[in-house]
Amino acid sequence: MKILITGGSGFIGSNVAEAYLSAGHEVVVADNLSSDSAACLPSDVRLYPISIESPDFGNLLKLEQPDVINHHAAQKSVPMSVENPMLDARINALGLLNVLEAAVQHNVRKIIYISSGGALAGDAPVIPTDESYIPKMISPYAIHKYLGEQYLHFYSVTHGLEYTVLRYANVYGPRQIADGECGVVPIFMNNLLSNQPCTLFAYANQPRGTTRDYVYVKDVCAANVAALTKANQAVLNIGTGIEVDTETVYEELAQLIGRELPLIRRPERVGDVQRSALDCRKAAELLDWKPTTPLRDGLRETLAWLEDSRRKPSAEAHR
Ligand SMILES: NC(=O)c1ccc[n+]([C@@H]2O[C@H](COP(=O)([O-])OP(=O)(O)OC[C@H]3O[C@@H](n4cnc5c(N)ncnc54)[C@H](O)[C@@H]3O)[C@@H](O)[C@H]2O)c1
Repeated sequence: MKILITGGSGFIGSNVAEAYLSAGHEVVVADNLSSDSAACLPSDVRLYPISIESPDFGNLLKLEQPDVINHHAAQKSVPMSVENPMLDARINALGLLNVLEAAVQHNVRKIIYISSGGALAGDAPVIPTDESYIPKMISPYAIHKYLGEQYLHFYSVTHGLEYTVLRYANVYGPRQIADGECGVVPIFMNNLLSNQPCTLFAYANQPRGTTRDYVYVKDVCAANVAALTKANQAVLNIGTGIEVDTETVYEELAQLIGRELPLIRRPERVGDVQRSALDCRKAAELLDWKPTTPLRDGLRETLAWLEDSRRKPSAEAHR
């Protein structure tokens, strides 16, 4: 199968590219290279430095004729979307529409669309939360991810486009970079390795910090491989169902690295979802998928990658 991955030079997209190659598929990537990225794509992946907003996106599909588009490209920061809703709409709503219009015109069979379980199910009354929960969206990022899901339904009904929506929990693993507010795992790892203190933001009634559902990127890749042939017209949570508080992540990392530094404790930040975890039974049923990597093993592999890339900071070392 030939698969075009948008955002395929980012953290998750580049891991998915390798998983598709390993499964014997042909992969091309469309990415405007706007994120700092630790990815270095294998030489047998063709990279087109193009935006999903570009009027030339259709020409790329005409040239490459992929069977499936795997849509990872996005503005991924929730705070940025609050600050600049127009920017988020341009990339996450209009950019997706541009991809969908081109997909229909150039006979793409299926879209795998990456949405966010964490943003859509944040602070739901039932945790772990399943896909039937109607989200109460408090950020343009969540609104546009949800809008994208509705557009897929529209294109499937009107144009017969197949789709699977994967709503990710908190993904961590090799190639994730510490960039500001996203990614507690790389932020804590980098700080501990550099002998810098880590900051824990916590609600007064939940002093060990907010809870999240941490899913390892290799498990996420397996879901993307399964979605090539399964779960058409379905919206699926991709996580572990396990709530882990931030202090536990810190303790696991401190133990792995063998270094304990004092935690700086701060009150919660505006908009911090207090508790979150995803019920993933639907993915188990429709994708025949389950996460298999315990948190400690995933953290150990991520740490090995980070230590390696800090020793050899060339692009190749990041592979
Ligand atoms: N990391 C997580 O925990 C998480 C959780 C839920 C959902 N997601 C979603 O997963 C996807 C990938 O996230 P990531 O963490 O790998 O982020 P990332 O920033 O590493 O990857 C995103 C990629 O998209 C590219 N991109 C951005 N705007 C583009 C545009 N206009 N045209 C073409 N390419 C563009 C960037 O250059 C980057 O390579 C995103 O859709 C994000 O919303 C991530």
